[in-house]
Amino acid sequence: MAFKKLSLLFFLFFYIRVIVSDTVVDDDATSFGGGGHWVLLQRSVGISAMHMQVLLDNKVIMFDRTDFGPSNISLPNGRCRFNPNDTALKFDCTAHSILYDVASNTLRPLTVQTDTWCSSGAVNIDGTLIQTGGYNDGYTKLRSFTPCADAQCDWLELPEPLTSRRWYASNHILPDGRVIVVGGRAAFTYEFVPKTVVNGKMFQRSYYLRFLTETRDSFPGGENNLYPFLHVLPDGNLFIFANKRSILLDYDRNQVLREYPVMPGDEKRNYPSTGSSVLLPLRLTGLGNGTWFPDAEVMICGGAFPEAFPLADKRKVYIEAARTCGRLKVTDPNPKWVMEEMPTRRVMSDMLILPTGEIIIVNGATNGTAGWEDAVNPILSPVLYRPDEPDPLKRFLVLNPSITPRMYHSSAVLLADGRILVGGSNPHRGYDFKAYPYPTDLSLEAYYPYYMGPEYNAVRPSIIAVEAAYNTVSYLEEFSVTFSLRVYRPVPGISISLIAPSFTTHSFAMNQRMLVLDVIAVQQVAPFAYKVTAHGPLYPTLAPPGFYMLYLVHAGIPSVAVWVQVK
Ligand SMILES: *[C@@H]1O[C@H](CO)[C@@H](O)[C@H](O)[C@H]1NC(C)=O
Ligand SMILES: *[C@@H]1O[C@H](CO)[C@@H](O)[C@H](O)[C@H]1NC(C)=O
Ligand SMILES: *[C@@H]1O[C@H](CO)[C@@H](O)[C@H](O)[C@H]1NC(C)=O
Ligand SMILES: *[C@@H]1O[C@H](CO)[C@@H](O)[C@H](O)[C@H]1NC(C)=O
Repeated sequence: MAFKKLSLLFFLFFYIRVIVSDTVVDDDATSFGGGGHWVLLQRSVGISAMHMQVLLDNKVIMFDRTDFGPSNISLPNGRCRFNPNDTALKFDCTAHSILYDVASNTLRPLTVQTDTWCSSGAVNIDGTLIQTGGYNDGYTKLRSFTPCADAQCDWLELPEPLTSRRWYASNHILPDGRVIVVGGRAAFTYEFVPKTVVNGKMFQRSYYLRFLTETRDSFPGGENNLYPFLHVLPDGNLFIFANKRSILLDYDRNQVLREYPVMPGDEKRNYPSTGSSVLLPLRLTGLGNGTWFPDAEVMICGGAFPEAFPLADKRKVYIEAARTCGRLKVTDPNPKWVMEEMPTRRVMSDMLILPTGEIIIVNGATNGTAGWEDAVNPILSPVLYRPDEPDPLKRFLVLNPSITPRMYHSSAVLLADGRILVGGSNPHRGYDFKAYPYPTDLSLEAYYPYYMGPEYNAVRPSIIAVEAAYNTVSYLEEFSVTFSLRVYRPVPGISISLIAPSFTTHSFAMNQRMLVLDVIAVQQVAPFAYKVTAHGPLYPTLAPPGFYMLYLVHAGIPSVAVWVQVK
């Protein structure tokens, strides 16, 4: 049904009026002047931001673990938590989770009851965070957090348990709205949440996945396949990468559809040889003319060599990390890894997609691996990667450095305003504020990419309204966005991107994906005001249902995003 409608709608581009400017900015916004800059937002948010998720109200939920001992922020209203199973502090009056409000740069403490250490999560269709697993009394816990307009909402511990212990597992929201939870320490299976009936089916059990057994290295604690990288591909199947190998899984039939070539090189890419992975932007422009699915490409960067963890763990010898990235066209019948080198070696490298479709690589170290006291030489400079830059020498750009080492248990997320929020770092067993040279870090910083510079104000679009019923962008329908802009440039015009907010921990931004929508028309509606019409993202396999940040990009410069629900 989608197809019929689409076929009517190709290439109806029309510009009612076009204003061509003289030189207000450089023609190429990314012609590199700007290495961006850093701002310290909070010296201490009270906890170390090990896990972060941006919610639809531009608040960011953060948490570390309940059995870390006393944090630097009290529970609200003088409350305390008594938990006989807590391994550090059974009577604890401090918080291990907070809700950070981006607009006001303020925060409030939240209450988690059981241990969330090294856990995973995903936001469901309604914008509720579903968080899964953890450690000890949290191994099989499911918890949720639903945003609220007042300051009353808090964590809920759900009654139904996970089937398997999920400690160091990864999650992904699926096209039908369920969440898949894959792997974890000694968990060679996957399962689905919620543990309720969906479409008449109950998803209680775990399903064995041999791939997880096969990719596990045998050194104790050095599995190199934890927090596997997950990406839902355009056909709805799940790409899973662990260690050096990757497969395409039909999770409904518990069937491996294909195995991809092994990533070249000796380097390992998953915990504790922690690298990172992104699904490069999916371009939906012109789909329907014989092709119903866009090409999809995965990019994996950083990691560590096989001996890195044993050496760091046993002898405190920190060898150099991986320098390579690999790109694989996972929708090709015979794909080959295309390898590149980053400007510096990097382990624990967070990768985030910017609204421009560029990738930022941030946080991490040049020596060692993830784990307690297992890395040295933090890298303070992020790197920008421009996937579409034809000249390989110009593809990576080193950006301006922060002042804070962000190694094990740090995290980073993209905000709706286009900044990168960075926090956490704690390579110690508990909170250790005196450790030298890498104390437990409780601060929060923002990185401002080049595109936020005032020199781009004239070409930066500003969204006035999304014209879709209830702000809902439905798969089959057209919708419009009105925006203001001082200087409109018809070439390359305006594009619309949707970015799913990630659940970031251990350098992997789960659920992160970007879709560049098919623009049908742009028209001027008033002086300095325009309307762009586009197709919704076609199918749930391209964009699993839920809340996305919608950005307009003009002359390479993104707007601030508004949140839209895709369903
Ligand atoms: C703990 O919080 C206080 C403010 O509440 C701050 O002054 C102090 O620096 C924090 N400690 C650490 C280690 O960040
Ligand atoms: C503590 O652990 C025991 C045994 O696993 C369990 O029965 C009990 O419910 C736990 N208590 C709490 C508060 O989690
Ligand atoms: C559709 O595809 C054909 C064959 O690739 C091409 O010649 C044609 O220009 C395309 N039409 C549009 C509207 O993109
Ligand atoms: C980092 O690794 C290199 C190469 O293995 C080594 O020469 C150097 O000493 C290491 N640095 C530290 C601080 O351990």
